Amino acid sequence: MVLVSLVLKHAAPYKAWIAAVFVLQLISTIASLYLPSLNAQIIDKGVSTGDTDFIWSTGMTMLTVCLVQVATAIGAIYFGARTAMAIGRDMRRDFYRKVDSLSALELGRFGTATLITRGTNDVQQVQMLVLMTLNFMVSTPIMCIGGIIMALREDAGLSWLVWVSVPTLFIIVGFLVYLLMPLFRQMQDRIDGINSVLREQIVGIRVVRAFVREPFESERYRTSNENLTRVSVKVGNIFVLMFPVIMMVLHLATAAVLWFGGHRVDAGDMQIGSLTAFLQYLLQILMAVMMGVFMVMMIPRAVVCAERIADVMGTESSQAGPSEPTEETPTHGRVEFRNVTFGYPGAERPVLDNISFTAEPGTTTAIVGSTGAGKTSLINLIPRLYDPQAGEVLIDGVPVSRLTRDQVSSVVGLVSQKPYLFSGTIASNLRFGRASATDDDLWQALRIAQGEDFVKSKEKGLDDPIAQGGTNVSGGQRQRLCIARALVATPRVYLFDDSFSALDVATDARLRDALGEATGDATVIIVAQRISTIIGADQIVVVDDGVIVGRGTHEELVDGNETYRQIVESQLSVEEVA
Ligand code: UTP
Ligand code: MG
Repeated sequence: MVLVSLVLKHAAPYKAWIAAVFVLQLISTIASLYLPSLNAQIIDKGVSTGDTDFIWSTGMTMLTVCLVQVATAIGAIYFGARTAMAIGRDMRRDFYRKVDSLSALELGRFGTATLITRGTNDVQQVQMLVLMTLNFMVSTPIMCIGGIIMALREDAGLSWLVWVSVPTLFIIVGFLVYLLMPLFRQMQDRIDGINSVLREQIVGIRVVRAFVREPFESERYRTSNENLTRVSVKVGNIFVLMFPVIMMVLHLATAAVLWFGGHRVDAGDMQIGSLTAFLQYLLQILMAVMMGVFMVMMIPRAVVCAERIADVMGTESSQAGPSEPTEETPTHGRVEFRNVTFGYPGAERPVLDNISFTAEPGTTTAIVGSTGAGKTSLINLIPRLYDPQAGEVLIDGVPVSRLTRDQVSSVVGLVSQKPYLFSGTIASNLRFGRASATDDDLWQALRIAQGEDFVKSKEKGLDDPIAQGGTNVSGGQRQRLCIARALVATPRVYLFDDSFSALDVATDARLRDALGEATGDATVIIVAQRISTIIGADQIVVVDDGVIVGRGTHEELVDGNETYRQIVESQLSVEEVA
């Protein structure tokens, strides 16, 4: 079973703690079982005969047993809780590492919302079950069996009450649990649903406001919320039923013991102390059954959660790559596309078709093409965000799939089209590239990226805070910080995916001048829309609808390539007017 293997795997390091829980539970349960029989002795041998000494001595024994019971119970719960929390923590850690290792493909297949729920709420459910199991797994069966034996020892004539009440309780609670099972799965799915809607709305809040889509979006949220509420209410209804039913069984059992036991005492077949002990044992047994069923009740939900966690844990990254370096880390950065064909999963036709070109170290390659032509897809293949279906992407002659993730990221610096910054400070973001970078290195990178002035104007300079996603700086500032971040890393291959689009023409020109010096003999690949950005490139690759339709310098292409000329003309007219 998925749940068992998941839990056992994570419980392995805590064997000693779990053993301690078991031993403490055992002592505590035996002590609890001993108490009613001592009580019966006091009544039957002490109270009825007026033997005060016996009452005192047995009373002291009871007190000792009671203290032992309390102490061991506290200890058991303490270690149980610690173990459960530790297992939960480890599970979250492993989950995080797994998610971290997955490629964009698998992450896209699961989706962010469900990954977040699985990594938090689902782990929590499993952790709860572990806690319950540790608390009741030993005590419940011992309490049940031991209770029955002790009860029968007190008075065998009333034993039929045990045989009737225990199965009755078991069947009733079991039936309710059976009703609950499917509801729990629905609940987990709907938590996913509400997370996904909420996430999208918060991320896209500005767009929602700009298009006055609030009523529509609130409706969408309301529906998800209603859906979750409806399942929760169903679950609640069953719980509402469960407690009175359990209580009813307990009270009926009590009444029956008193009624039938009373008659037996009257007839002289049973002593009064035995009657009280029998009653206490019966209640202990029923309580244990109830706890056992509660525990069992948590299993279906935890099973669902465990399956959802295991689903992610069992996913292998489609781009595993070597974990230890098997190839030399490339030192030049010569990028070569060899007959590369790539399509997104589920798409009918490939986005890139038979792409071949080479970008040499020390030169700049520009990639142009209309929107949706496949430029970003092409760039993303170099740091291996995706793998091509056919052909190979090579750096210094080594396929990127044969390099480790660390090697790839040390060689390739990508400034993506959607620049992303992490919460922290400007400095902490820039040091993503290289943790050991000094402040001077950071300033140097900012100078090249044309970001020095605006960072200087910040109150705290490099230590100025950055919000999650970089939402507290402007689009152009974010682009420049991302460029600086790539520069700090000093990779062999620089990839700029439309990274100058938010800059004005003058800043763009200054940046490219500075960049030319800074990148030196590294390979530079630039995706750009603006002709002025790419005009000086050593090589221009024109992409149209996933195929390369032209390659050469600006001068060569402007005469010989129809697609390129159209792009140039569409922009020159604009720029001439400007
Ligand atoms: P690209 O994102 O590679 O195009 O998508 P591009 O050339 O960079 O476009 P701009 O200039 O930034 O706008 C190429 C095609 O790949 C598909 C899209 O349908 C698009 O037409 N695509 C892209 C996907 O199917 N899934 C994705 O995650 C991204
Ligand atoms: Mg793009």
